[in-house]
Amino acid sequence: MSSRPQTNPQQQQQRPFNLVRCTAIVLLTTIVLVGLAVLIAWLVIRPKHLLFSIENGSVSNFNQSDTHMNSTFYFTIRAHNPNRRLSIYYDSIKTSVAYEDQPIAYSTIQPFFQPHRNVTRIQTKIVASNVPLTPGSARDIRLEKGTGEIELYVYVWARIRFKVGVLKSNERRLKLACSPVMVHFSPTQHFERTICEAGI
Ligand SMILES: *[C@@H]1O[C@H](CO)[C@@H](O)[C@H](O)[C@H]1NC(C)=O
Ligand SMILES: *[C@@H]1O[C@H](CO)[C@@H](O)[C@H](O)[C@H]1NC(C)=O
Ligand SMILES: *[C@@H]1O[C@H](CO)[C@@H](O)[C@H](O)[C@H]1NC(C)=O
Ligand SMILES: *[C@@H]1O[C@H](CO)[C@@H](O)[C@H](O)[C@H]1NC(C)=O
Repeated sequence: MSSRPQTNPQQQQQRPFNLVRCTAIVLLTTIVLVGLAVLIAWLVIRPKHLLFSIENGSVSNFNQSDTHMNSTFYFTIRAHNPNRRLSIYYDSIKTSVAYEDQPIAYSTIQPFFQPHRNVTRIQTKIVASNVPLTPGSARDIRLEKGTGEIELYVYVWARIRFKVGVLKSNERRLKLACSPVMVHFSPTQHFERTICEAGI
């Protein structure tokens, strides 16, 4: 009978210690298992960067005054998805063309789905209609036109979702910045491919 009151305080001291230890072990195991699952998923999917470039560009109906400009630009954007398992929904795509730091015109592109290991060429037509120019831009564009080519920036903003098997990711924003895009006024001139920088 005298031994019971002695063991009781000992058990009460050990119980909180065991609880902490158990919780720690369960937590640690969970973290290790989740980490392993992420690692295996990553190894299976092996995500690779998406690659974008401007393959062709041309200009037509160009006309400018000292204050305004009209022009139609055509670009071929090459989108390369090198992934073996990831496919991509392009839910909304907007493009713009800029001269120096001044946006000239915008356009939207039809949403599309890109399968894995696929190259898709997107044709875009951007119409600049009576765009106001700063006196500096008007002068510089005139000077560049005299050389037969103009240096432009092409930007793309897209909302995309990734698909792996039946799993789909949340929507992410993709931004492309392509420069310098040298567009020739003479259609016989060879277009130099421009790599786009991509940010997700
Ligand atoms: C580039 O675009 C121009 C005008 O649209 C076209 O005439 C030319 O064939 C295209 N070049 C290539 C390599 O696709
Ligand atoms: C360009 O616009 C001016 C007036 O702003 C006009 O006189 C001229 O004919 C136009 N040129 C072309 C090629 O459209
Ligand atoms: C651009 O086109 C508009 C009509 O669409 C015309 O009124 C304007 O004069 C043109 N501007 C130039 C610089 O050609
Ligand atoms: C890429 O996917 C598009 C749309 O599914 C298809 O039309 C095209 O042929 C594919 N291109 C290649 C190189 O697989």
